[in-house]
Amino acid sequence: MIQINKLTKIYKLTKKQMLEQKTKKDIKRAVDNLSLVARPGEIYGLLGPNGAGKTTALRCIATLLKPTEGSISVNGYDTIRDSDDVRREIGFLTNEIKLDPQFSPKYMFNFFGKLHKVDEETIEERREKLFSYFEIKDFEDKKIDELSTGMKQKASLAVSLVHDPKVIIFDEPTTGLDIVTARSVTDYLRLLKEDGKTVLISTHIMTEAEKLCDKIGIIINGSMVSEGSLGEILRKTNTKDLEDAFFELYKIHNKEEE
Ligand SMILES: Nc1ncnc2c1ncn2[C@@H]1O[C@H](COP(=O)(O)OP(=O)(O)O)[C@@H](O)[C@H]1O
Ligand SMILES: [Mg+2]
Repeated sequence: MIQINKLTKIYKLTKKQMLEQKTKKDIKRAVDNLSLVARPGEIYGLLGPNGAGKTTALRCIATLLKPTEGSISVNGYDTIRDSDDVRREIGFLTNEIKLDPQFSPKYMFNFFGKLHKVDEETIEERREKLFSYFEIKDFEDKKIDELSTGMKQKASLAVSLVHDPKVIIFDEPTTGLDIVTARSVTDYLRLLKEDGKTVLISTHIMTEAEKLCDKIGIIINGSMVSEGSLGEILRKTNTKDLEDAFFELYKIHNKEEE
């Protein structure tokens, strides 16, 4: 279970960042008083446009960033106080952390397995299972540099699961993938859910949130603007699909920023 309690993350901007973001303010409130609970056996989807604060929130859960305010617990472990325990509980996948291009998927899988203190036999077993499922086996000894985008992403995903984590945190897991590869990823997320894992993903893809997620949290400018099952969100916004719901909410909440 993941519990985010009133998370706020403020970045200090460099002069260069201020120019790039066309702002006179030297801080950016990337996540603003965000709370959510993701439970075992459930896929929670954090849905929002580019810059909404999804990656920042997920990096805070993964102990890679420190909250400015608020707290986060993962299976009862606090991300600041018990960061080692949290890292053991979670499998984290992001577009920004790349596998070392010089090494092979097999090498990386074994390396991270050892890092997580998984015994060799179990590493072999899990590698066999994950590499078969994601059809990586023919490429397992090739340099990651030489693999296609889809194959790289599948290899990163397999590596993130080497220690069989109870909590899965995937940042835009299907972005940039072709539909067949994307489908294999979403199907695997369903398997993880059925296995009782807590699954939290971020996405900007409406149909993905609609079809895959048991619970959806819509995030705009760092704040949660609506949360619930698809049905609940449609009812609350009086709309017929998630895209319409999103734009209803966007009209209201994007104005507040200006
Ligand atoms: N390291 C950083 N320093 C300053 N601003 C950042 C940094 N990382 C992200 N931001 C800003 O914070 C906001 C949220 O970014 P992010 O969490 O990456 O959003 P998302 O993943 O939803 O696209 C954006 O305005 C982004 O420009
Ligand atoms: Mg992001």
